[in-house]
Amino acid sequence: MDLRQKIVNSFRKRFGADPEFVVRAPGRVNLLGEHVDYNDGFVLPAAIDRATLLACRPSGSSLSSILALDLGAETSFDLNSLQNKRTNRDMPLPGWGLYPSGMQWSLAEEKLKTPGMDAVFASDVPPGAGLSSSASVEMAFGVAWEKLGGWTRNPMHMAKLGQRAENRYVGVNCGIMDQFASACGVKDHLLFLDCRSLDWQAVPLPRQVAIVIANTNVHRSLAGSAYNDRRAACEQAVHILREYLPAIHALRDVSPEDFNRHAHHLPELVEKRARHIIEDIQRTRLAVPILADNDIGRFGTLMNECHISLRDLYQVSCPELDAMVETAWTLPGCYGARLTGAGFGGCTVNLVAQDAVVTFSRELAQGYKRRTGLKPEVYICHAADGAGLMD
Ligand code: GLA
Repeated sequence: MDLRQKIVNSFRKRFGADPEFVVRAPGRVNLLGEHVDYNDGFVLPAAIDRATLLACRPSGSSLSSILALDLGAETSFDLNSLQNKRTNRDMPLPGWGLYPSGMQWSLAEEKLKTPGMDAVFASDVPPGAGLSSSASVEMAFGVAWEKLGGWTRNPMHMAKLGQRAENRYVGVNCGIMDQFASACGVKDHLLFLDCRSLDWQAVPLPRQVAIVIANTNVHRSLAGSAYNDRRAACEQAVHILREYLPAIHALRDVSPEDFNRHAHHLPELVEKRARHIIEDIQRTRLAVPILADNDIGRFGTLMNECHISLRDLYQVSCPELDAMVETAWTLPGCYGARLTGAGFGGCTVNLVAQDAVVTFSRELAQGYKRRTGLKPEVYICHAADGAGLMD
């Protein structure tokens, strides 16, 4: 049974009626520009053909009752007491409940109407795997409230409201990339985003390559706090470098030459973190002209360099991610491979020649299993459209 049928059936069972509508919001994979979104850099993600689906109707009151089918868990919260992060039975909201209630809080902060809803949701974006399952949940609920509230906001605006929910309600200091990709995805395209101006363009994915996603099945651990630590190191670097480069506002503003001139003022670890950011912003800037030239070989090399930098400088890889990437690098047809998303576990992204993709996927899974004893999940991914109502 497909995911839509599953949530609709479960909605009928739980609420005794059909849902009024179903929303789909995709996860994302990022090809270049990792950890640079919160440094005002450039990123190149795509929305993927795995998504959160949400079946919904108005509840008729300020209360929302939400069933998370994948977890077999339900929670309820009231529009008028979102700030407390407690259920209507005065218990702390479960962790997963912070995403729908946080989204409602963020929309309400914006004075948007968010009537209570009855909802069932489920997802085939694996959680904790670096494919932005949480952003897809936020965007699904955002679109549902847009429909229930009878207002409209453009997808980028919705992404910003989702980011605010995550930053100020859930407590993860993430950048805009995940919500952006989930909201603004374009089928068969990568999305090139300037995280400072928020200007973006859809870039066609060259026909001769496929994106293969490989899940190490190592769950991200410590991701929240380690993520916030990395962000703090970047802020510290800007703070120190500003003494010598007064015009800078973010690491985006520091050229590699200026950085090399002043890097010795930074503590060693902060220097490493900042070097990754500055070099990765340079790599991602090159991506669009390289794709326009159809120079897949060069693009793949940038992906490989990005992985090495994330491993050695930003230090967000782990042995299993390295094993998956190193295996991919040895296989025919692989242009580039690297960890994708925040790191510490989760998935790698691979750019692979179309005609090699089946053998590549099989051999990658076998090679990874031989090296780690773990069974990965490897699948060919298609770039998808962003969040919206389903027909
Ligand atoms: C997480 C965050 C994003 C981004 C990536 C790393 O997915 O939510 O904003 O910082 O990590 O690139």
